[in-house]
Amino acid sequence: MPEFVTITSERLDYRPLREEDMETYVRLRNEASYRRWFYFQDPPTLASAAREIREMQEKSKRRIDLLREAFDSGLYLKATGELIGTVSLNKFHGPEEELEHVEIGYGIGEAYQCRGYATEAAGAAVRWGLLRLRELGAEPVITGCAEHENWASRKVLEKTGFSFVCAKQYVSMYIITGA
Ligand SMILES: CC(C)(COP(=O)(O)OP(=O)(O)OC[C@H]1O[C@@H](n2cnc3c(N)ncnc32)[C@H](O)[C@@H]1OP(=O)(O)O)[C@@H](O)C(=O)NCCC(=O)NCCS
Repeated sequence: MPEFVTITSERLDYRPLREEDMETYVRLRNEASYRRWFYFQDPPTLASAAREIREMQEKSKRRIDLLREAFDSGLYLKATGELIGTVSLNKFHGPEEELEHVEIGYGIGEAYQCRGYATEAAGAAVRWGLLRLRELGAEPVITGCAEHENWASRKVLEKTGFSFVCAKQYVSMYIITGA
């Protein structure tokens, strides 16, 4: 069954980005509030976004192995169909062995921030991810990590039910486990 079918929440639809979303996606990724925390990544261009979207479309046709590959989803407003952000679960290779977990990531467009969308999406992705990890026979654990001063992201993790674990050089580490 395609993965996206099983992820739902009140105000958001979860599906892979489509070709027609390319310009919106590039705009969202180039916004100042996103670049502030992802300064170390090159912002996507139309060409790199097209590749990412093709890959997301390909992956959406099969069950992915969360332990080996990333899950990325567009977040669409149910009310209007607009693309407002993304949520992802990525294999996180931390600086130390014990930090090798699946890590959550999210970004919400500036026009839609502070309305609870990231918290809603993180909750849905975590519920789905923990179940999926269990199905894969893995420990149901998801890590969250945000730069110390990224208060909005830290708040999202806390509201989603993550617990603070420790502070590393640049980031605060959080964890959530399945019941
Ligand atoms: C982090 C991010 C995804 C949050 O999205 P969002 O949809 O606005 O999040 P929510 O509305 O669910 O929750 C945000 C919470 O942070 C709070 N917040 C926002 N900015 C804040 C700040 N500067 N200081 C303290 N709290 C802040 C909001 O008030 C809200 O808490 P509340 O519900 O108790 O009022 C969004 O700011 C973003 O895309 N940032 C850039 C990308 C990023 O940092 N991703 C995470 C990388 S670790």
